Amino acid sequence: MATYKAPRGTNDFIPPQSERMCVILGRMRELFDRYGFRPIETPIFEETELFTRSVGEETDIVSKEMYSFADRKGRSLTLRPEGTASVVRAYVQNNLDHLGLGRLYYVGPMFRYERPQKGRYRQFFQVGVEFLGESGPLADVEVIDLFCHLAESLGLEGLSVELNSVGCPDCRDLYMQKLRRCLEERKPLLCGDCNRRLETNPLRVLDCKVPACQDPLADVPQIVDELCGGCEEHFAETRGGLEALDIPYVLNPRLVRGLDYYTRTAFEVTCRRLGSQSAVGGGGRYDLLVEQLGGKPTPAIGFAIGLERLLMLLGEERLPGEGAAEPLVWVGTSTGEARKAGARLVHSLRRKGWRAQLGYGTGNLGKQMKLANRNGAAATILLGEDELSSGRIAVKHMARGEQLDLGENDIDSQLRQWFGDRP
Ligand code: HAM
Repeated sequence: MATYKAPRGTNDFIPPQSERMCVILGRMRELFDRYGFRPIETPIFEETELFTRSVGEETDIVSKEMYSFADRKGRSLTLRPEGTASVVRAYVQNNLDHLGLGRLYYVGPMFRYERPQKGRYRQFFQVGVEFLGESGPLADVEVIDLFCHLAESLGLEGLSVELNSVGCPDCRDLYMQKLRRCLEERKPLLCGDCNRRLETNPLRVLDCKVPACQDPLADVPQIVDELCGGCEEHFAETRGGLEALDIPYVLNPRLVRGLDYYTRTAFEVTCRRLGSQSAVGGGGRYDLLVEQLGGKPTPAIGFAIGLERLLMLLGEERLPGEGAAEPLVWVGTSTGEARKAGARLVHSLRRKGWRAQLGYGTGNLGKQMKLANRNGAAATILLGEDELSSGRIAVKHMARGEQLDLGENDIDSQLRQWFGDRP
C-alpha cells in the first residue's frame, strides 16, 4: 500500500505542540482585546490580482512564490501569501471605516512556494494585526509596543526590534535614483540577484544576504538620510515615542521588507537563536494601500508574527503563569459490564466539571492502573466485578497513594476534597 506524506514544506502540529499553540493564541487574544483589536477572518484564497497589486509584481512573493490556480470558470485565484491585502480588501468591501472597525487581528495559514528550510515553510501560520485609520506616529509606537507586549507575555527573551523608514513615494523615488546610480558603479561586484533587482526593484538590493555583496553594499546611500520633511518628522517622533516607553530598538537602514506596500515606518523583530530565518515577525506602515485597493485614503500600520518561529523560540518550557493541566480522573474497568458502568460514571463526572476518561482496555485492574499512570491521571477509579456487586468503588489519589472505597454518589465530593471545586 502506498503511504502518504504531508507535502514538502508543510507541518503537522501534534500534541503537545498543538496544545501549546492553543495556549499561545489564547494569551494573544487576551492581549489583543486589551488593546481594542477585534478578530477578522478572511478567505484563504483571493483573486490573484489582489496580491499582485498590493504586494507588488516585482517582489519575490508575487513573482515566484504564489500558489495560483484557475478555478473551474477560469478565474485566477491565489492561496493568500500574507494577510494584509485581504484585510484591506475586507475593510473596503465591508465599509469598516463607517463601523469604526479599524483595529483588527487575524490568525491563520499563509502559503508561499519558498525553498523549505528550518523556520521557512510553504504553509505557515501568521498572527497579524492591522490598525487602520490613524496616521500619527503614536499609532506606530502603539503597534510596536503591542508586539513587544506579546513577546513579554510569552516570556520571550533576546528579541531585537529593528527599525527603519522607507519614506513615501516622493522621497523614495529620489532616493532610488541615487541608489541606482551608486549600484550601477558596483555592478560587477554584486551577485546575479542583485543585478536583476537593480533593474526591477533597487531597494531590495539592500536586503541581499550574500556574503560577497556585503562589502560593496556597506556604504551605499541610506534612505533615512534622504527622507522628505514629513517622513523625517514622522520617523523622529516614532523613535521618540518608543524611547518614551523604554522600548529598545536598533536602527537598521537596510531594512526594506519584502512587500511593496510599505511607506514610512518599517520594522522587524528578530532573534539570533532562529539562525538564518531570524525574523519572528515584521510589519510597517502602508498609508497608500487602502486607496490603491479602491477605498478612501486611509493610513494604516500593522505587523505579522510567524507562529512556527515563535514556537521554536519558546521550546518546551512552560509559559509564564501557565498553570498545570486540570486533574484527570481515570476510570479503569476490567469487564464488559464494568465498562458500561464506567461509561455512565465518566458521563456524569464530566458534567460535574471533571476531566474524566474511560480506559477502554480490558484486562486486570493492575494493567488499568498502569494505563492511568501513563495518561497522567490524578485520581483513578477502578471498576471490577467486585465493585459492581458491592456498590463500593475504589477511588485512588495517585500522588498520595491514598485509596478509599466509596459509594458512587460520594465520588464527586471526595474528588473536590482532594482537588478543589470545579470551575
Ligand atoms: P512578512 O515579513 O512577509 O510580513 O511575514 C511576517 C512573518 O511571517 C515573518 O517575520 C515570519 O516570521 C513569518 N513568515 C514569513 N514567511 C514565512 C515562511 N515561509 N515560513 C515560516 N514563517 C514565515 C507580512 O506578511 C506582512 N503582511 C506583515 C504586515 C502586516 N505588515 C503590515 N501588516
